[in-house]
Amino acid sequence: MKKFSKIISLILSVMLLLSISVVSSYAAGENAPFRINCTINGDTGTQRGFCWYTKSETDTKVEISILGVPVNSAKVEVVGSEKFEGNYYHKAVVSGLTAGITYGYRVGDGNVWSDYGYFTTDNGDDIVNFIAVADVQASVLDRMEKGANVLDKALDHQIGTDFVVNLGDFTNDSTNEEWDLYDQCFGDMNLTYSLVPVAGNHDSNANWFNNLFTLDTSESVTTKNGVNYSFDVGNCHFAVLNTNDNIAISKTQLTWLKNDMNSTDKDWKIVFLHKAPYSLGKDAKWPDMWYIQKYLTAVCDETNVDLVMSGHDHMYLRTKALKNQAIDEDGTTYVLAGTAGDKRYEIRKFLGDTFMKKDLIANLVVQKDGYANCWDDENNSWDEVNLNNVGGCFNTVSIVGTTLTLNSYIVKDLAEGEEDNIITNTDTYTRTKAAGENEITFTGDNTVPKQAYLENKVIDFIHFATYTLTEWLGNFMSMLPAILQSVIVEDTF
Ligand SMILES: [Fe+2]
Repeated sequence: MKKFSKIISLILSVMLLLSISVVSSYAAGENAPFRINCTINGDTGTQRGFCWYTKSETDTKVEISILGVPVNSAKVEVVGSEKFEGNYYHKAVVSGLTAGITYGYRVGDGNVWSDYGYFTTDNGDDIVNFIAVADVQASVLDRMEKGANVLDKALDHQIGTDFVVNLGDFTNDSTNEEWDLYDQCFGDMNLTYSLVPVAGNHDSNANWFNNLFTLDTSESVTTKNGVNYSFDVGNCHFAVLNTNDNIAISKTQLTWLKNDMNSTDKDWKIVFLHKAPYSLGKDAKWPDMWYIQKYLTAVCDETNVDLVMSGHDHMYLRTKALKNQAIDEDGTTYVLAGTAGDKRYEIRKFLGDTFMKKDLIANLVVQKDGYANCWDDENNSWDEVNLNNVGGCFNTVSIVGTTLTLNSYIVKDLAEGEEDNIITNTDTYTRTKAAGENEITFTGDNTVPKQAYLENKVIDFIHFATYTLTEWLGNFMSMLPAILQSVIVEDTF
């Protein structure tokens, strides 16, 4: 039924675009909106968040429509409008929408409007589709274009996606110039879906992340360098974490996650975060990721999380289902989502006996030429090389009732003279579970008073520092001979 409704939504979207293309022209000038995005914000059946920028100080308005006809019952609440880094951001939340409807929207000051975008509210049934990309992290145009091309291919592949999750590191340095490049390359696509942004370490500079997206911050432990939030689509509950919180992740946020996951009885529990709990990339030797592995996986074990998707380490890696950091078919599957961009990391073999035990790997794709780029689980070998794996990565997840299917794809870099990218399906993973197994065991208030967070932050910092100086340092010293060998023999650290 949802497939049918999605086809209807798609047809409506096309009709909507056709109908509005006659009256719409992209606004120019000081009041013209740019960096426009529509984000998941609270109830996915009735609400969305919107954020955009203008060069001048202007009014903040959102017009919601169906087939070009304004919907007056939509309630627009302005939640922020301020000068930031030389421009003005505008934030609004639209509520009062109807579930399962494709809406058009435009943003502006009431006189100067943006082009039209569209989104579809969740109809609540148990078919859920989404796209996951990570780590474009580009600072120049051609690299940003490459990342955008990967998402473009993903949108062609997963038509009618419920949302796109970007697992962080949208740009390299979070500057006006780089976000303008991002807008130049991703801006048109951003008008066609609901975005779930995850804060990466490259996005936290000067509070850029929080000033670019209008998210549900009602339960976020901090709104300074990222946001943690959660939402439902169909029979799935999603939590988004902020790994810029206290270097890695605060215990306050882990407590929030535990309560959040215990407050849902949805069949599927899925977590998005930037820094990867399991990885073989260059950043996996540092204490922040070891800390996340130890403490986040404990919460996932305890609350029956099914899938965790992350970025940060610029390769694709899927673990087997794990519990207590060992293989367990009822456990959590961890996916490092590959990079959609072209900054790609080699494997650090010295991590294969320490941070990421090799026998826990179900699939690994290193997207880099001149290096072993595929983990062959059957032969326990690093040395499978497939040049089609040298490209940007996107992932699709489809949930139909009690079956989840994840696919990962590489969009091969264009070689000289080639016009179309070869797209290779590099991983397929299916998981089935019984419905109705999750129970609500937390019904309290899951907000965190600012004062309590600040007080906990001191305790947290001491905890992280103690962990680093004891457990992590011990592990790092045990890896040191292999690290030195890696530096000398392979020139990788
Ligand atoms: Fe990162």
